[in-house]
Order: sequence, then structure tokens, then C-alpha cells
Amino acid sequence: MDEFLNIIKDINYKSIVIDMNKNGFTTLGRIKSKSLLSSAIREIDNLSTFNDVEKNYSDSEHRIWNAHNKMSIAREFKLFSDEIISNVLNKNSNAYDILAIRNKSLNDLDKKNVSLRWHMDSFFSQLKTFLFISEVHLDNGPFEIISKTHKMSFKLRLAFKANFFKIKNLKDGKRGYTSIDQKTISSVIDTNRKIQTMSVPAGTLLLANTSCLHRAKPCIDGSRYALTSYYN
Ligand SMILES: [Fe+2]
Repeated sequence: MDEFLNIIKDINYKSIVIDMNKNGFTTLGRIKSKSLLSSAIREIDNLSTFNDVEKNYSDSEHRIWNAHNKMSIAREFKLFSDEIISNVLNKNSNAYDILAIRNKSLNDLDKKNVSLRWHMDSFFSQLKTFLFISEVHLDNGPFEIISKTHKMSFKLRLAFKANFFKIKNLKDGKRGYTSIDQKTISSVIDTNRKIQTMSVPAGTLLLANTSCLHRAKPCIDGSRYALTSYYN
């Protein structure tokens, strides 16, 4: 717990709010205890063998929901995340779930067929905290986010261009922003809006507005372990 408390102690909320408004994401600090991080990896590996784990992408991705009731570090992470987001939003915020996620490299067939995965979680602003438990590099599934795409003026223009809201979606409940094609992504990237790839050391904590365009880049080599917080 001390590790999270130490980070909270040094947080400068003013600069976090400035970063969030400007870019849509910011790093919060880093958990440095190697033993804490390696025991979290062991716990996720163990929980990944349970029947209630969600498996995606030919079993290469394991999602452990409700992790805050299963792992001590996830419980501490939830308290940390609630504290940060409550202060940033200036309202009491309580994560309804903590996800522990393990990505292993895709098999060769999936590597070829992998979809691009770019999306927005929500059309309206939504904050999430991430803890990257293991070191993340270009090949093991880094989180990628396109800076400044959380701004409403941008999202409205994109919604019109990429046809996010179709009449038929009123019926089928689908939303165009939950899966965005490469052509659209290429068209929004410029000197102002860049893809930021989170190649970060183990223990890095990130706050992101996931109404930005973002994805987990497919893991093609190695593995990635992370925690994420979910808010209504
Ligand atoms: Fe997402």
C-alpha cells in the first residue's frame, strides 16, 4: 500500500488536469517494488487457470474481472484509482470493476488476421487508470492512444466523417466508434494528433480519457500484464 500512497503524496492534480485537458492522457508515476510486481504476475498467472476467466483472441488474452476481490494489489490499485479520479473530476468516484489482463503473443495465423482494434470506449468523456505490471515494449501489446482526440469538436467532426451514428443503430444498439478502420485512423493523424505508444517500464501508472481513439496494439512477442479500472 505504501507504494501507491507514496505516489498519491506527490501527485500534482493541477498539472494532471492540464495534461488531461490538453492531450487526453497522462502518466501518474511508477510502482518500483519488483517483489510487488512479480507477485502480481504470479497471481494473474494463477487466476488465469480458473474457469471464470474470459478468453479472447484464440486464448492469447485472459481477462480476470472483479480482480479487486481476488488480488491484493488490485484492491490497492482500486483505492488509488478512486482517489485519483475523484480528485481529477472533483466528484466521488468508485470503480465498479478492476480488470486484470494478461496478453500472450498471438499465434502465426492470428498475427496475419489481427484486426486493428482502434476504438473509443465512449463518445463522451470517460476516465480509466492503468497499471502496467510488466515492462511494455513495441511488440508485447502496448496501449496506444491518439492524443487530443478526446476533444468534442474533433469527435463531432469524426462522427460525421466516419458515420458513427446510423439510423439502424437505434435498433441494433451498435456504435460506430467501437471499431474504427485504418483509413479513418490514417486520416486523423497529423502533427497535432499523434499515436502515442506506451512503451513503458514495469509499474507505470497511466490515466487516460478512453473517449480518445485508442487500442491495445496486438501482442506479437512476449507477454503483457496490466490492471484497468472501470467507472460508470
Ligand atoms: Fe478501450
